[in-house]
Amino acid sequence: MTTTIALAGKGGTGKTSIAALLIRCLVERGARNILAIDADPASNLHLALGLPLGQTIGDIREETLQEAQGGSLPTGVARRDWLDYAVRMAVEEGDKVDLLAMGRPEGPGCYCAVNHMLRQIVDALSRSYDYVVIDNEAGMEHLSRRTTRDVDVLLLVSDPTMRGVLAAGQMARLAGKLHIRVGRIYLLLNRASGPLPEPLQQAIAETGLELLETIPLDPVLAEFDSTGRPIAELPDTSVAYQTVRTVTDRLLNGR
Ligand SMILES: Nc1ncnc2c1ncn2[C@@H]1O[C@H](COP(=O)(O)OP(=O)(O)O)[C@@H](O)[C@H]1O
Ligand SMILES: [Mg+2]
Repeated sequence: MTTTIALAGKGGTGKTSIAALLIRCLVERGARNILAIDADPASNLHLALGLPLGQTIGDIREETLQEAQGGSLPTGVARRDWLDYAVRMAVEEGDKVDLLAMGRPEGPGCYCAVNHMLRQIVDALSRSYDYVVIDNEAGMEHLSRRTTRDVDVLLLVSDPTMRGVLAAGQMARLAGKLHIRVGRIYLLLNRASGPLPEPLQQAIAETGLELLETIPLDPVLAEFDSTGRPIAELPDTSVAYQTVRTVTDRLLNGR
């Protein structure tokens, strides 16, 4: 059975950094078969994981549509096999984790067969992994449109700002309306140090979300990012890493 963990939240709150650390901690806890899905069109999870970026699903879709227009593409079952192969080739195989980047989403009004097949292929591929970690862009676009998979844990990441917390609350409500099943939903407060201002505490309470953990501001993480080193390779002394380890253990125990 696959456990799917998705991260969502306002832009710049730390989703990608936390996703990379979470993947590392899952590996450290013995998980061997992990697929990381970069669902941000800006594709940057690979940098946080220290992996190269291969072809994206968006690239495959564009190429396929172009070839279809040129008439050089097989049809029917052969087309599906061809797409299946293309997706498998697009998976970046790391030592500890495989990575698939979604790339740009389809243009408006593209409900084409290719897109449908790609979605099915990515979902089937995901089911062959024990863990799937989905790093989303600011919204929940990917979850609402681009997958048919259920999500076991939705981590809503916020910085210690009113806008971040309100966005997380909105996304939690949206999650309830998606056509996919979303299991447990938690709030993670990132880059927070010291006591939270009263109005912010109030806003958190009003979201009705369980605050799973508060991840402190970590100068070492910031330093890694500014020098382009993979966040997944933070030293064991990093407070962000240590806190995400606690988060991982709580998630694993709650399964
Ligand atoms: N706990 C933290 N301490 C210090 N800096 C952080 C922390 N978490 C994230 N950052 C920084 O915040 C910025 C946004 O992080 P990122 O993970 O890219 O967010 P998102 O994926 O939500 O857009 C990056 O520059 C990152 O280095
Ligand atoms: Mg990101």
